[in-house]
Amino acid sequence: METTVKTYRDHYFQKAKQDNYPARSVYKLKEADKRFKLLRPGQRVLDLGAAPGSWSLYAAQKIGSSGRLLAVDLNPLDIELPGQGLFLQGDVFDKAGTGRLMAEQGPFDVVLSDMAPKTTGIKFADQAKSLDLAFEALAICRECLIKGGAFVVKFFEAQEAKTLLNQMRLEFARVQGFKPKSSRAESKEMFYIALGRKA
Ligand SMILES: C[S@@+](CC[C@H](N)C(=O)[O-])C[C@H]1O[C@@H](n2cnc3c(N)ncnc32)[C@H](O)[C@@H]1O
Repeated sequence: METTVKTYRDHYFQKAKQDNYPARSVYKLKEADKRFKLLRPGQRVLDLGAAPGSWSLYAAQKIGSSGRLLAVDLNPLDIELPGQGLFLQGDVFDKAGTGRLMAEQGPFDVVLSDMAPKTTGIKFADQAKSLDLAFEALAICRECLIKGGAFVVKFFEAQEAKTLLNQMRLEFARVQGFKPKSSRAESKEMFYIALGRKA
């Protein structure tokens, strides 16, 4: 079993290296984009939890030079963003600082959140922190996402995620759970993909 997991991990890790992305996580967004047609030329995209920068790089390629990208993270990116991209180093919970700057740069057609907490190994604590981040990303959508816009959010699977799903269903026309094939086999991460913000 361990050999299978390792081989699988190595495949996406190596592929990311070959494709010049700083992290294997890019393939999760690619899968979601392929299935839900999220990103198009000319869109304005907000990428929350952007470091080291794979999702931002992929999104920038998809939206092209006529689009706009704002990448936000506590940590610096490992990449140079293309011309239409802007990086904001900050905490999404800092409403007066980061929150205000995000709202000024908006509105956005798509909000992506691959945010994850520093894990402690204490399952319930990690799940709770992950859900806090997901709810905060949803709150940011209320400030920054256009009517009709799309939202992708990661969280660690937990019973309480149902409250997030229910809330998102009130605010979007369609919400679906999504578990990428490229997630590590042992990972408990999961995504909700929401389309058509009701506003
Ligand atoms: C899995 S990584 C994102 C990987 C990224 N999507 C990529 O493709 O390169 C999760 C990120 O969430 C960020 N993060 C966690 N809490 C945050 C917060 N409160 N505000 C902003 N970013 C946060 C972390 O710093 C970390 O870089």
